[in-house]
Amino acid sequence: MPKRVRTAVFPVAGLGTRFLPATKAMPKEMLTVVDRPLIQYAVDEAREAGIEHLVFVTGRNKGVIEDHFDRQFELETTLESRGKHEALAELRKELPSAGHTSFTRQQEPLGLGHAVWCARDIVGDSPFALLLPDMIFKASPGVLKQMMDAYEEHGGNVIGVEECDPKDVASYGIIERGEGPDKGFEITGMVEKPKVGEAPTNLFISGRYILQPEVFGLLSQQTRGAGGEIQITDAMHTLMKQQRFTGVKYDGKVFDCGSKLGFLTANVVFALDRDDIRDGFVKELRALDLSEQIEG
Ligand code: G1P
Repeated sequence: MPKRVRTAVFPVAGLGTRFLPATKAMPKEMLTVVDRPLIQYAVDEAREAGIEHLVFVTGRNKGVIEDHFDRQFELETTLESRGKHEALAELRKELPSAGHTSFTRQQEPLGLGHAVWCARDIVGDSPFALLLPDMIFKASPGVLKQMMDAYEEHGGNVIGVEECDPKDVASYGIIERGEGPDKGFEITGMVEKPKVGEAPTNLFISGRYILQPEVFGLLSQQTRGAGGEIQITDAMHTLMKQQRFTGVKYDGKVFDCGSKLGFLTANVVFALDRDDIRDGFVKELRALDLSEQIEG
Protein backbone atom coordinates (compact mmCIF):
# COMPACT_ATOMS: atom_id res chain seq x y z
CA MET A 1 0.00 0.00 0.00
CA PRO A 2 1.52 3.38 -0.94
CA LYS A 3 1.61 6.08 1.75
CA ARG A 4 -1.73 7.89 2.05
CA VAL A 5 -2.11 11.32 0.42
CA ARG A 6 -3.51 13.68 3.06
CA THR A 7 -2.29 17.07 1.85
CA ALA A 8 -3.15 19.14 -1.20
CA VAL A 9 -1.36 22.20 -2.50
CA PHE A 10 -3.25 24.96 -4.30
CA PRO A 11 -1.07 27.54 -6.06
CA VAL A 12 -3.10 30.76 -5.94
CA ALA A 13 -0.44 33.43 -6.33
CA GLY A 14 -0.99 34.19 -10.05
CA LEU A 15 -1.79 37.77 -11.03
CA GLY A 16 -4.76 36.95 -13.28
CA THR A 17 -3.74 39.49 -15.92
CA ARG A 18 -6.01 37.81 -18.50
CA PHE A 19 -9.05 38.91 -16.48
CA LEU A 20 -8.22 42.55 -15.84
CA PRO A 21 -9.90 44.71 -14.70
CA ALA A 22 -11.97 42.06 -12.82
CA THR A 23 -8.84 40.84 -11.06
CA LYS A 24 -7.24 44.19 -10.22
CA ALA A 25 -8.17 43.97 -6.54
CA MET A 26 -9.84 40.54 -6.44
CA PRO A 27 -7.98 37.24 -6.79
CA LYS A 28 -8.83 35.39 -10.00
CA GLU A 29 -9.47 32.27 -7.91
CA MET A 30 -12.52 34.06 -6.45
CA LEU A 31 -14.17 34.51 -9.87
CA THR A 32 -17.40 32.56 -9.75
CA VAL A 33 -18.72 29.80 -11.93
CA VAL A 34 -22.46 30.13 -11.22
CA ASP A 35 -22.27 30.87 -7.48
CA ARG A 36 -19.07 29.19 -6.31
CA PRO A 37 -15.58 30.64 -6.56
CA LEU A 38 -13.13 28.69 -8.70
CA ILE A 39 -11.00 27.80 -5.67
CA GLN A 40 -14.01 26.19 -4.01
CA TYR A 41 -14.39 23.71 -6.90
CA ALA A 42 -10.77 22.60 -6.49
CA VAL A 43 -11.12 22.32 -2.71
CA ASP A 44 -14.36 20.30 -3.02
CA GLU A 45 -12.62 17.94 -5.46
CA ALA A 46 -9.69 17.48 -3.06
CA ARG A 47 -11.95 16.75 -0.10
CA GLU A 48 -13.97 14.25 -2.14
CA ALA A 49 -10.66 12.46 -2.80
CA GLY A 50 -9.95 12.19 0.94
CA ILE A 51 -7.61 15.17 1.33
CA GLU A 52 -7.55 16.63 4.86
CA HIS A 53 -4.95 19.39 4.86
CA LEU A 54 -5.28 22.27 2.39
CA VAL A 55 -2.14 24.30 1.63
CA PHE A 56 -2.56 27.57 -0.27
CA VAL A 57 0.43 29.26 -1.86
CA THR A 58 -0.78 32.84 -2.02
CA GLY A 59 0.62 36.25 -2.89
CA ARG A 60 -0.22 39.89 -2.37
CA ASN A 61 -3.95 40.78 -2.81
CA LYS A 62 -5.04 37.24 -1.96
CA GLY A 63 -6.17 37.73 1.66
CA VAL A 64 -9.81 37.21 0.74
CA ILE A 65 -9.05 33.54 -0.06
CA GLU A 66 -8.02 33.08 3.56
CA ASP A 67 -11.26 34.75 4.67
CA HIS A 68 -13.26 32.50 2.37
CA PHE A 69 -12.04 29.41 4.22
CA ASP A 70 -12.63 30.90 7.67
CA ARG A 71 -15.82 31.33 9.71
CA GLN A 72 -17.80 34.51 9.16
CA PHE A 73 -19.52 35.10 12.49
CA GLU A 74 -21.53 38.15 11.47
CA LEU A 75 -22.92 36.38 8.42
CA GLU A 76 -23.69 33.22 10.38
CA THR A 77 -25.52 35.17 13.11
CA THR A 78 -27.56 37.05 10.52
CA LEU A 79 -28.52 33.88 8.64
CA GLU A 80 -29.46 32.25 11.97
CA SER A 81 -31.65 35.14 13.10
CA ARG A 82 -33.39 35.22 9.69
CA GLY A 83 -34.10 31.51 9.84
CA LYS A 84 -31.99 30.75 6.76
CA HIS A 85 -30.96 27.38 8.12
CA GLU A 86 -30.22 25.72 4.80
CA ALA A 87 -27.74 28.41 3.72
CA LEU A 88 -26.14 28.28 7.16
CA ALA A 89 -25.80 24.50 7.12
CA GLU A 90 -24.24 24.73 3.65
CA LEU A 91 -21.67 27.29 4.84
CA ARG A 92 -20.76 25.17 7.86
CA LYS A 93 -20.50 21.97 5.85
CA GLU A 94 -17.97 23.57 3.51
CA LEU A 95 -15.75 24.97 6.23
CA PRO A 96 -12.41 23.14 6.51
CA SER A 97 -11.76 21.72 10.00
CA ALA A 98 -9.75 23.82 12.45
CA GLY A 99 -6.02 23.53 11.82
CA HIS A 100 -6.48 21.93 8.42
CA THR A 101 -5.56 24.95 6.30
CA SER A 102 -2.11 26.49 5.80
CA PHE A 103 -1.13 29.60 3.90
CA THR A 104 2.30 30.53 2.63
CA ARG A 105 3.39 33.17 0.16
CA GLN A 106 5.22 33.01 -3.10
CA GLN A 107 7.11 36.28 -2.85
CA GLU A 108 8.13 36.52 -6.52
CA PRO A 109 6.36 35.25 -9.68
CA LEU A 110 9.04 32.74 -10.68
CA GLY A 111 6.72 30.08 -12.09
CA LEU A 112 4.47 27.20 -11.05
CA GLY A 113 7.40 25.01 -9.98
CA HIS A 114 8.60 27.75 -7.66
CA ALA A 115 5.10 28.18 -6.19
CA VAL A 116 4.94 24.46 -5.39
CA TRP A 117 8.44 24.58 -3.88
CA CYS A 118 7.24 27.33 -1.51
CA ALA A 119 4.99 24.69 0.14
CA ARG A 120 7.86 22.25 0.85
CA ASP A 121 8.16 22.85 4.61
CA ILE A 122 4.42 22.54 5.16
CA VAL A 123 4.09 19.38 3.06
CA GLY A 124 7.20 17.74 4.53
CA ASP A 125 8.27 14.24 3.58
CA SER A 126 4.91 12.93 2.32
CA PRO A 127 3.18 12.49 -1.02
CA PHE A 128 0.82 15.33 -1.85
CA ALA A 129 -1.81 16.34 -4.38
CA LEU A 130 -1.41 19.45 -6.49
CA LEU A 131 -4.51 21.15 -7.91
CA LEU A 132 -4.43 24.17 -10.21
CA PRO A 133 -7.65 26.03 -9.40
CA ASP A 134 -7.99 27.65 -12.86
CA MET A 135 -8.92 24.23 -14.15
CA ILE A 136 -12.32 22.91 -13.09
CA PHE A 137 -13.95 19.70 -14.22
CA LYS A 138 -17.26 18.13 -15.04
CA ALA A 139 -16.40 14.68 -13.77
CA SER A 140 -18.02 12.14 -11.48
CA PRO A 141 -16.29 10.89 -9.43
CA GLY A 142 -13.98 13.89 -9.33
CA VAL A 143 -10.71 13.74 -11.27
CA LEU A 144 -8.47 13.58 -8.18
CA LYS A 145 -10.58 10.74 -6.79
CA GLN A 146 -10.16 8.83 -10.07
CA MET A 147 -6.41 9.45 -9.84
CA MET A 148 -6.31 8.15 -6.24
CA ASP A 149 -7.50 4.77 -7.52
CA ALA A 150 -4.49 4.62 -9.87
CA TYR A 151 -2.23 5.80 -7.02
CA GLU A 152 -3.41 2.95 -4.80
CA GLU A 153 -2.53 0.50 -7.56
CA HIS A 154 0.78 1.94 -8.78
CA GLY A 155 2.05 4.28 -6.03
CA GLY A 156 4.63 6.85 -7.19
CA ASN A 157 3.41 9.91 -9.07
CA VAL A 158 0.12 10.25 -10.95
CA ILE A 159 -0.94 12.87 -13.51
CA GLY A 160 -4.41 13.49 -14.91
CA VAL A 161 -4.51 14.00 -18.67
CA GLU A 162 -7.05 14.79 -21.35
CA GLU A 163 -6.86 15.07 -25.14
CA CYS A 164 -6.58 18.54 -26.62
CA ASP A 165 -6.80 19.85 -30.15
CA PRO A 166 -3.29 19.29 -31.61
CA LYS A 167 -3.07 23.02 -32.37
CA ASP A 168 -3.39 23.82 -28.63
CA VAL A 169 -0.40 21.77 -27.39
CA ALA A 170 1.78 24.88 -27.04
CA SER A 171 -0.41 26.08 -24.14
CA TYR A 172 0.13 23.04 -21.91
CA GLY A 173 2.41 20.37 -20.52
CA ILE A 174 2.21 17.35 -22.85
CA ILE A 175 2.99 13.76 -21.93
CA GLU A 176 4.29 10.78 -23.87
CA ARG A 177 2.21 7.64 -23.36
CA GLY A 178 3.71 4.21 -22.62
CA GLU A 179 2.13 0.85 -21.80
CA GLY A 180 -1.10 0.36 -19.86
CA PRO A 181 -4.81 1.15 -19.90
CA ASP A 182 -6.40 4.62 -19.95
CA LYS A 183 -6.96 4.56 -16.18
CA GLY A 184 -3.31 3.85 -15.36
CA PHE A 185 -0.62 3.83 -18.04
CA GLU A 186 3.06 4.52 -17.75
CA ILE A 187 4.23 8.00 -18.71
CA THR A 188 7.48 7.78 -20.65
CA GLY A 189 8.18 11.47 -21.24
CA MET A 190 6.80 14.97 -20.85
CA VAL A 191 7.48 18.41 -22.20
CA GLU A 192 6.23 21.86 -21.19
CA LYS A 193 4.54 23.89 -23.93
CA PRO A 194 6.02 22.18 -27.02
CA LYS A 195 5.69 23.79 -30.44
CA VAL A 196 2.81 22.58 -32.60
CA GLY A 197 4.10 19.60 -34.57
CA GLU A 198 6.76 18.76 -31.99
CA ALA A 199 4.53 17.33 -29.26
CA PRO A 200 4.79 13.57 -28.58
CA THR A 201 0.96 13.26 -28.21
CA ASN A 202 -2.03 15.55 -27.71
CA LEU A 203 -2.50 14.36 -24.11
CA PHE A 204 -2.16 17.45 -21.95
CA ILE A 205 -1.61 17.85 -18.23
CA SER A 206 -4.86 19.42 -17.07
CA GLY A 207 -3.86 20.59 -13.61
CA ARG A 208 -4.19 17.58 -11.29
CA TYR A 209 -1.15 15.77 -9.89
CA ILE A 210 -0.19 13.35 -7.12
CA LEU A 211 3.50 13.83 -6.40
CA GLN A 212 6.20 12.34 -4.21
CA PRO A 213 8.14 14.76 -1.97
CA GLU A 214 11.41 14.12 -3.87
CA VAL A 215 10.14 16.63 -6.41
CA PHE A 216 10.98 19.42 -3.93
CA GLY A 217 14.71 18.55 -4.06
CA LEU A 218 14.66 18.96 -7.84
CA LEU A 219 12.67 22.20 -7.67
CA SER A 220 15.22 23.63 -5.22
CA GLN A 221 17.77 23.63 -8.06
CA GLN A 222 15.68 26.51 -9.47
CA THR A 223 16.36 25.56 -13.10
CA ARG A 224 14.51 27.86 -15.52
CA GLY A 225 12.49 26.31 -18.36
CA ALA A 226 9.76 27.43 -20.79
CA GLY A 227 9.03 31.15 -20.54
CA GLY A 228 12.07 31.64 -18.26
CA GLU A 229 10.05 30.16 -15.36
CA ILE A 230 10.74 27.35 -12.91
CA GLN A 231 8.48 24.62 -14.28
CA ILE A 232 6.94 21.73 -12.37
CA THR A 233 6.94 19.73 -15.65
CA ASP A 234 10.75 19.95 -15.89
CA ALA A 235 11.21 18.75 -12.29
CA MET A 236 8.81 15.86 -12.91
CA HIS A 237 10.64 14.99 -16.12
CA THR A 238 13.88 14.63 -14.16
CA LEU A 239 12.15 12.68 -11.37
CA MET A 240 10.90 10.21 -14.00
CA LYS A 241 14.42 8.76 -14.13
CA GLN A 242 14.00 7.52 -10.54
CA GLN A 243 10.27 7.10 -9.95
CA ARG A 244 7.22 5.84 -11.79
CA PHE A 245 4.79 8.35 -13.31
CA THR A 246 1.33 7.02 -14.09
CA GLY A 247 -1.07 8.79 -16.45
CA VAL A 248 -4.83 8.71 -15.92
CA LYS A 249 -7.03 9.62 -18.87
CA TYR A 250 -9.96 10.33 -16.59
CA ASP A 251 -13.69 10.27 -17.36
CA GLY A 252 -14.74 13.89 -17.55
CA LYS A 253 -13.91 17.21 -19.14
CA VAL A 254 -11.84 20.16 -18.06
CA PHE A 255 -12.79 23.84 -18.39
CA ASP A 256 -9.76 26.11 -18.52
CA CYS A 257 -11.09 29.03 -16.51
CA GLY A 258 -7.75 30.83 -16.88
CA SER A 259 -9.09 31.78 -20.31
CA LYS A 260 -12.19 33.89 -20.91
CA LEU A 261 -13.68 31.35 -23.31
CA GLY A 262 -13.21 28.45 -20.90
CA PHE A 263 -14.60 30.51 -18.04
CA LEU A 264 -17.73 31.62 -19.92
CA THR A 265 -18.36 28.11 -21.25
CA ALA A 266 -18.01 26.68 -17.73
CA ASN A 267 -20.65 29.11 -16.46
CA VAL A 268 -23.14 27.95 -19.08
CA VAL A 269 -22.39 24.23 -18.68
CA PHE A 270 -22.41 24.29 -14.86
CA ALA A 271 -25.62 26.36 -14.79
CA LEU A 272 -27.36 23.93 -17.15
CA ASP A 273 -26.32 21.12 -14.81
CA ARG A 274 -27.92 22.65 -11.71
CA ASP A 275 -31.38 21.39 -10.79
CA ASP A 276 -32.29 24.70 -9.16
CA ILE A 277 -31.20 26.84 -12.14
CA ARG A 278 -31.50 24.80 -15.30
CA ASP A 279 -35.18 25.31 -16.20
CA GLY A 280 -35.19 29.06 -15.54
CA PHE A 281 -31.89 29.53 -17.38
CA VAL A 282 -33.07 27.60 -20.44
CA LYS A 283 -36.27 29.68 -20.47
CA GLU A 284 -34.28 32.94 -20.39
CA LEU A 285 -31.94 31.76 -23.14
CA ARG A 286 -34.87 30.68 -25.33
CA ALA A 287 -36.62 34.02 -24.82
CA LEU A 288 -33.47 35.82 -25.97
CA ASP A 289 -33.47 33.76 -29.17
CA LEU A 290 -29.73 33.82 -29.69
CA SER A 291 -29.81 31.48 -32.68
CA GLU A 292 -28.88 34.26 -35.14
CA GLN A 293 -25.81 35.28 -33.11
CA ILE A 294 -24.79 31.65 -32.63
CA GLU A 295 -25.41 30.36 -36.17
CA GLY A 296 -24.79 33.50 -38.18
C1 G1P B 1 0.57 24.95 -16.09
C2 G1P B 1 1.51 23.76 -16.28
C3 G1P B 1 1.14 22.97 -17.54
C4 G1P B 1 -0.31 22.56 -17.47
C5 G1P B 1 -1.20 23.79 -17.25
C6 G1P B 1 -2.64 23.39 -17.03
O1 G1P B 1 0.81 25.87 -17.13
O2 G1P B 1 2.84 24.23 -16.33
O3 G1P B 1 1.97 21.85 -17.66
O4 G1P B 1 -0.67 21.91 -18.67
O5 G1P B 1 -0.77 24.53 -16.09
O6 G1P B 1 -3.41 24.54 -16.88
P1 G1P B 1 0.26 27.41 -17.04
O7 G1P B 1 -1.22 27.33 -17.33
O8 G1P B 1 0.54 27.87 -15.64
O9 G1P B 1 1.00 28.16 -18.09
